[in-house]
This record gives sequence, C-alpha cells and structure tokens, in this order.
Amino acid sequence: MKVAAKINSFLFQQASLTTRFAVHSLICIGIMTVALWFLVSNYLINGILRREWETTAQFVRTEVREFLTAEDFTTKDRKPVGPKFAALLRHITLMPDILRFNVYNPQGVAIWAAVDKKLVGRSFADNDKLQEAIQGKVVANMSFLSQKENVSERDSSKKVVEVFIPIYSEVTRELLGVMEIHKRADSIDRDIREARIVVLLGALCGGLLLYLSLFAIVRQAARKIKEQEENLLKVQSDLVASQRMAAVGEIAAAVAHGIGNPLSSIRAAAQVAKLDFDECEGPDLQQKTLTTLDEIIQQVDRVQKRMRGLLNFAKPMEPRQTPVEINSLLSDIVDVLRPRFAEAGVSLQLDLEKSLPKAQLDANHVEQIFMGLITNALEATPKGGRVTIRTHTLTGNGSATNVHICIEDTGEGIPVDSRERVFDPFFTTKPDGTGIGLPLAKKFVERNGGKIIVSDGISGGAKFDVVFPVGRSN
Ligand SMILES: Nc1ncnc2c1ncn2[C@@H]1O[C@H](COP(=O)(O)OP(=O)(O)OP(=O)(O)O)[C@@H](O)[C@H]1O
Ligand SMILES: [Mg+2]
Repeated sequence: MKVAAKINSFLFQQASLTTRFAVHSLICIGIMTVALWFLVSNYLINGILRREWETTAQFVRTEVREFLTAEDFTTKDRKPVGPKFAALLRHITLMPDILRFNVYNPQGVAIWAAVDKKLVGRSFADNDKLQEAIQGKVVANMSFLSQKENVSERDSSKKVVEVFIPIYSEVTRELLGVMEIHKRADSIDRDIREARIVVLLGALCGGLLLYLSLFAIVRQAARKIKEQEENLLKVQSDLVASQRMAAVGEIAAAVAHGIGNPLSSIRAAAQVAKLDFDECEGPDLQQKTLTTLDEIIQQVDRVQKRMRGLLNFAKPMEPRQTPVEINSLLSDIVDVLRPRFAEAGVSLQLDLEKSLPKAQLDANHVEQIFMGLITNALEATPKGGRVTIRTHTLTGNGSATNVHICIEDTGEGIPVDSRERVFDPFFTTKPDGTGIGLPLAKKFVERNGGKIIVSDGISGGAKFDVVFPVGRSN
C-alpha cells in the first residue's frame, strides 16, 4: 500500500513536472522570442535607414553639384542666387518622396528656405541634429511635420523625415553648408513595418518550433519514466512474493535442522536403552531405563523449545539478551553430544578459560550456534579424530572486551573455493544435510553483535572462530 502511494505521488509529481516545464519553457522561450525580435528588427531597421540616408545624401550632393557652385553658398548677396536654389528645389522635388529643403551655412544660420522665407537669416545653431551635420555626419530626424509651423496643408498629416546633409566644396573639401531635406517617410515606414513583421514571424516560428520540440522530448521522457516506474512496481511486487517464498523455505529448512540434532540424540538414547535391555536385568535395568527416558524427555523438550525458537526466528525479532556463561553452556552442549562422539569414535578436548566473563547474549541463539558448529565438526571428523573447543578472553585497554570461542577439528577441512559458500542458505555436501546450520549460526552470531570466521585448522581440519562482545553485563 505504501509503495503504491509513493508511486502514485511520484506519478503526480511527474505530471506536474511536465506542466511546470510547459509553463516555464513557454515563459522563457516567449521572453527569448521577444528579445530576439527586438534585437534583430532594430539591427535590420538601422541598416535600412542608414542606407536610405546615404542614398538620399548621395543623390542630393549630385544634384547640388549640377545646379550650384561653392559661391552660391558663401556669397553675401543672397538675392541673385535665390532662383538657382528654387530651380534646384523644383528639380529635386521631382523625386517622389522629397518635399522641400532648407539650407544653412556652416554657422547654423539659414541661408535659404523653401516655404517660410522668414527663416532666412535666423540662427539654428542650437539644433543638435544640425550641429551633428555641421560636424560632417548625415543625420536624420524622424518627426511629424504637422507639429511644425512650416508645413503646407497637403503634408500636414504625413510622417516626414528631416535629413541633414553636409555639402562640401569639390575643390577644397571644406564645408559649404548643410541642406535640411524634408522627405516623406511613408515608404520607409512601410519598409520598417514589413521588416518588423518578417522578423517577428521568423522569431515566432523559431520559438514555437523550439517549444514544441522541447515539450515533445520532455513528454516522451515523462512517459518513459512512468513506464519504468510501473515496471519497477511490478518487479517490486514479484520480488516481495519471491522473498516471501524464500522466507517460507528458509523457515522450513531451519525447523528441520533445529529438530534434526535432538532427534539424533533421542535415537542414540533409545539405542542405548535397547542395549541396556539386552545386557542388564532387575533394578539395574530399571535405573538405566529411567536415566535414558529422562534423557529422551529432555531432548523432546529441547526439540519443542527449538521449534518455538525457530518459529520466533522467522519473525523479525531482536535477541533477548541476558548475561550468559558461555563455558557452562558449552559444557551442557557437549554433555548432550557425548554419546554421539562416543559412537563416532571421536575424542573431545575442552580447553575452557576459567575466568571467562559472562557475555550479554541470547542464550537460545548461542546454544543453537554451538550445537550446529560442534555437530558439524563431529560429522566432518573421521574415527580416531579429535574436536577441540577453546574459549578465552580478548582484552582491550586493560579490560575484557570480547570472548573468543574456537571449534577446531581434525576432519577433512573445507576447500578454499567452497569456504565462501558454507554460509549460503541450503549449501550442503551431506546427503541428509539441510545446509541451514551455518547460515543460521552466522545470523545468530551477527544478531548478537558477534563475528564468525572460518579457516584451516592446524592439522588440516576446519576451524571456526566466534567472537562476541562482552557487553554491559561486566
Ligand atoms: N567442520 C567442518 N568441516 C568440514 N566441512 C564443514 C564443516 N562445517 C561445515 N562444513 C561444510 O559446510 C556445509 C554446510 O554446513 P551446514 O551446517 O550449514 O549444513 P549441513 O551440516 O550440511 O546440514 P545440517 O546442518 O542440516 O546437518 C556442510 O555440508 C559441509 O560441507
Ligand atoms: Mg550442519
């Protein structure tokens, strides 16, 4: 349920991610498109205008050269030159867009005006555009002439450009004057508008294409992620199912293992009873039979206890730790296994440190660990061999920190290549083995904060070292 809820919220986030991306990228690409439109159209329009003013200047200068001389600009007596300027005006206004012109001397004083003759003689030195033209630049000033006085009725509503063109002497290259050409701006305006529209369309198409392709990629990615999530959900549920199956198998094997050893002991006790029955009679037999029956009852109790322990083990359970005397626990296990040792002809050597401290452990776990390890050692050792059990204290900083238990045998040993696998569940080399003894032992050791290591014994057999922390009990 939790996983499904998590995935649902993830899918929701996924959907909102696509929407968020759609909105954010729309805003970004929108801003980019407008900026691009503004920059490119301005660049284009500036280019168009520059060319337009240069062409006008070139045309006007050619016409001036045709109609006027340098003296016509410089002479003090303006009356005789008036008709020449008027003739130039008539000629120049044949050009469709040119309306009229005024002429200024290099000091900014009007020396000829097409419409308002009162302007002649007035200084316009404070006009910025005129000043720039006097400095040698062709300058344009876009404005509505309707706002100005010197405009005829027919042009009052038209958009007009003033173009200031410096005129130079052909011989001396000195400035003769500045011509202020009034030009109709309709066609330029149209060109500018067209350029703006073309650039806007281009930028819009580019932006739209970019947006759509990005959106398609993100949507595809979101769909892929969703698909993968769904797959993951399926794999997860499969995994949970297979883990459950494995856990069931593990418990079954553990139960079989847990009752196998005590059952062997019960069988051995029954066999002893049978032998006693053959050999003894009277009160002697009665006493021996009673002892054997007690042992059998003890083993049955052990089976029951183990069954309970193993079933508990299936649940995720924390060890119930109490101070455990490992030496006496080992002695108890050895007592139980002694008949089997005798039967197998294997000797047992106990080398237990007397002052071994108690360790904070789950006694049931510890019993199962060593029952498994000692049984393995017994089963691996041929007749005449020996199993040694040692314990001693490991100290650190002057105090007991760990207890070390070593089970060593003189059996066939464990080949290096299968040494890693002996702790894998169900790994066994025995016809009736479950292969759960060592994995279970490892699990119990680790749950109690310990470590288990397998290595070669001195005489070629196997050696299992178990180290437990002493814990708080001491
Ligand atoms: N002391 C040992 N000497 C040699 N081989 C060992 C020793 N202890 C364990 N093994 C190997 O490790 C394998 C796994 O041991 P484990 O105790 O997990 O299962 P098992 O003994 O085969 O089965 P079960 O414990 O159910 O009787 C054994 O089959 C054996 O091959
Ligand atoms: Mg075993």
